[in-house]
Amino acid sequence: MSGDADPAAELITIPVALPGRAYDIVVGAGAIDGVARLLSGRSRVVVVSQAAIAAHVPTLLDALAGAGIDAELMLIGDGEADKTLDTVADLVGRFTRSGLLRNDAVVALGGGVVGDTAGFAAAVYHRGVAVVQVPTTLLAMVDSSIGGKTGVNLPEGKNLVGAFHQPIGVFADPAVLATLPAREFDAGLGEVVKYAFLGDTELRATLSSAPDTVVDRDPATLARVVARCAAFKARVVVEDEHETSGVRATLNLGHTLAHALETAGGYDLLHGEAVSIGLVFAARLAAALERISTEAADEQVALISALGLPTAVPRAGRVSGAELIALMRRDKKSDGGLTFVLDGPRGVERVDDPPAHAVERAFAAVGIRA
Ligand SMILES: NC(=O)c1ccc[n+]([C@@H]2O[C@H](COP(=O)([O-])OP(=O)(O)OC[C@H]3O[C@@H](n4cnc5c(N)ncnc54)[C@H](O)[C@@H]3O)[C@@H](O)[C@H]2O)c1
Repeated sequence: MSGDADPAAELITIPVALPGRAYDIVVGAGAIDGVARLLSGRSRVVVVSQAAIAAHVPTLLDALAGAGIDAELMLIGDGEADKTLDTVADLVGRFTRSGLLRNDAVVALGGGVVGDTAGFAAAVYHRGVAVVQVPTTLLAMVDSSIGGKTGVNLPEGKNLVGAFHQPIGVFADPAVLATLPAREFDAGLGEVVKYAFLGDTELRATLSSAPDTVVDRDPATLARVVARCAAFKARVVVEDEHETSGVRATLNLGHTLAHALETAGGYDLLHGEAVSIGLVFAARLAAALERISTEAADEQVALISALGLPTAVPRAGRVSGAELIALMRRDKKSDGGLTFVLDGPRGVERVDDPPAHAVERAFAAVGIRA
C-alpha cells in the first residue's frame, strides 16, 4: 500500500499523487475531524447530505464549528431518481443564495449519490469550487469518492452528464457504516472483493481468513480493508486519471455483466449485488477460456459466497443470455463488440469477443439461460 499507518492516531493516510491536484485519503476512527483541519481558513462551507445520514451530520458540523468555520447544511433527495440535473440546479442556486464564493468549499457527506451529485455541482459552480468527499457507504469509501468522477443521470441513462473534478481530500471513518442498511453494506462488499481479485493478495488474505469479521463490520478490520481498496483505486487513478490507457478500465472486472443485468431490470439487484454475480460470471468465463484453472475460479466463488454475497441471479430465466449479450454489446465501454475484463496468466486484462460456448457456460454458472 502506498499509505503510512499512524498507530497513535489510528489513521491511515493514502496519498493520491496527481500532479497539481494531489490529495490525501484519510481512513480510520475520527477521520472526519480532519475535514475541519483541511478547510480551516475558508470563510464559507456548504455540507451536502441526505436525511438518512442525519446521525453523522453533527460530528462533521461540530468539527467545522470547532475550527471556526461557518458551515451550512443542504439536504438532497435519496436514490438514483434524485441524482439529476434538477438537483444540481437546485444546489447551485442554494450555493449562490448562501454566499458561497470561488474560494469556498463543498463537503459531500454521503454515499455515491451525494458524492457524485455534490461533486458535479462543485465542478460547475463558478467553474469549479473545492470539494471534500466524506463517504458514508462502503461503496463510496472504496470506490466512488476516489478518482474525481462526478456526474448525474439523465432520463435517457445513468451517469450521462459529468465532469472529472478531483476532491481536495477524502475522509472515511468506517464507524459510520454501523448505521448502513445491511443490503447497502453487502453491495459495497461486492466492490471490495473485486479489488481482491484484481491482485491485492493481502486484501484477499484478510477477506479469506476472517470473512465473518468483515461481515460483522468490525471497525478496525474495515479500516484496513477500506484503506487497501482505496490505495488500490488511488494507484489506478494516478496511472490513468481519465481512463485513456486502459488501466482504469480493469476496475470494470465483473461490471460488464453487472451493467447488463441492471439495464435489463427485473431482478431488483443493487449495483454491488450485480457486480458480485458479474465476478462469478467473470471467474467462470476465465476458466472456460482456460485463462485460469477451475480450482482458481472455485476459490473466487467460495470467497464471494463466504462474504454472504449472491453468486447467481435471484430467479432463473428472467432475462436470457441472448438479451444480455445484446445489452453488453451496447455498453459504452465495449466499442460495439463483446468486451470483458478477465483474470488470466498475466493478471486481469481486457478480453474481446470470447467464443459463444465459453460465454454460455459462464451464463449457466450464474443461473442465466441461453
Ligand atoms: N464516481 C464514481 O467513480 C462512482 C463509482 C461507483 C459508483 N458511483 C455511483 O454511486 C452511486 C451509488 O452509491 P451508494 O452505493 O453509496 O448508494 P447511495 O449513495 O444511494 O446510498 C445508499 C443508501 O444508504 C444511505 N446511507 C448512506 N450512508 C449511510 C449511513 N452511513 N447510514 C445510513 N444510511 C446511509 C443513503 O441515504 C441511501 O439511502 C450510484 O449512483 C453510482 O453511479 C460512482
